[in-house]
Amino acid sequence: MRDLPPAPARGWRRLVHTLTGGSINPGPSPAEQRHRELLEAVRTRATQPEVIATICLKGGIGKTSTTAGVGLTLARHRGDRIIALDANPDAGDLYERTCPGTPPATLTDLAAHASDVASMTDLNRYAGIADRLSVIAGDQEPTISESLSADDFVTALQAVQHYYNVVMVDCGTGVTHPSMVGILSNARHVLIAGGYAVSGARRAESTLRWLTAHGYHHLARTAAVVLTQTTTVSNIVDTAAIENTLAQHSATVIRVPHDQAVADGTTISLDRLQPATADAYLQIAASIARNFH
Ligand SMILES: Nc1ncnc2c1ncn2[C@@H]1O[C@H](COP(=O)(O)OP(=O)(O)OP(=O)(O)O)[C@@H](O)[C@H]1O
Ligand SMILES: [Mg+2]
Repeated sequence: MRDLPPAPARGWRRLVHTLTGGSINPGPSPAEQRHRELLEAVRTRATQPEVIATICLKGGIGKTSTTAGVGLTLARHRGDRIIALDANPDAGDLYERTCPGTPPATLTDLAAHASDVASMTDLNRYAGIADRLSVIAGDQEPTISESLSADDFVTALQAVQHYYNVVMVDCGTGVTHPSMVGILSNARHVLIAGGYAVSGARRAESTLRWLTAHGYHHLARTAAVVLTQTTTVSNIVDTAAIENTLAQHSATVIRVPHDQAVADGTTISLDRLQPATADAYLQIAASIARNFH
């Protein structure tokens, strides 16, 4: 027997299905079908610990907003536990952009006291919660956050991985900070932040080249490049040429449109995003989760 199409969830198709008591089922529209496929990819089972780092050689280009948007999306649609860590040595704002109030502790605190963490309750003393996403803040005092070594990062990561199987890491600008070795050697996926301004696109490309040249070609090969329109794109920028060039060096290039709900600088909430922005974060989340094992 032929498989029946799933009942449509929205639009005229749902209306027809409801009014006819299900006897006429036009099936989901192509847009709804695509949405279902993205959700299915986002829900790919993770049988191993997954670490996703958001990196770029340039600052102010969407690393934190991408980590937040994708982390919130994974947390909303998956059944397992997702946490985002702020490893930016330069007064990172991941916590501020996701959680209300002041952080209970920081990643450097966790690294220093990881041996005392014996339960989920102990660990959650270091984290805030945004929707279903747990978040651990970075230190705001650069002399403290700058001191996070690769070993410290790995110590904190291991404490977290006892309880969370998907870990997002928001990094600082550049790849030379000592903690980056600990982050990249444990990352299974990277998101490369970029933009349409020529400088932003070049830095995204340089980041991919740097990964390949430094033994992280496996990360470059599966990387998703995220081009965030933090400002309006000038007419002289050839967006298609930028996307094509970056696509030659990475697995996928996804555009995040300009969204006032992100630009406002308050906490990022999936429910306040424009549908196209939420869809972009869903596409990025799907592109990562498809590679989960
Ligand atoms: N989709 C968007 N639409 C509009 N503004 C955005 C969007 N995404 C990010 N922004 C804004 O762009 C600025 C830079 O973004 P973000 O903080 O995510 O970059 P970053 O790479 O983490 O920066 P830093 O190097 O300072 O850590 C922020 O003010 C943010 O609110
Ligand atoms: Mg940032």
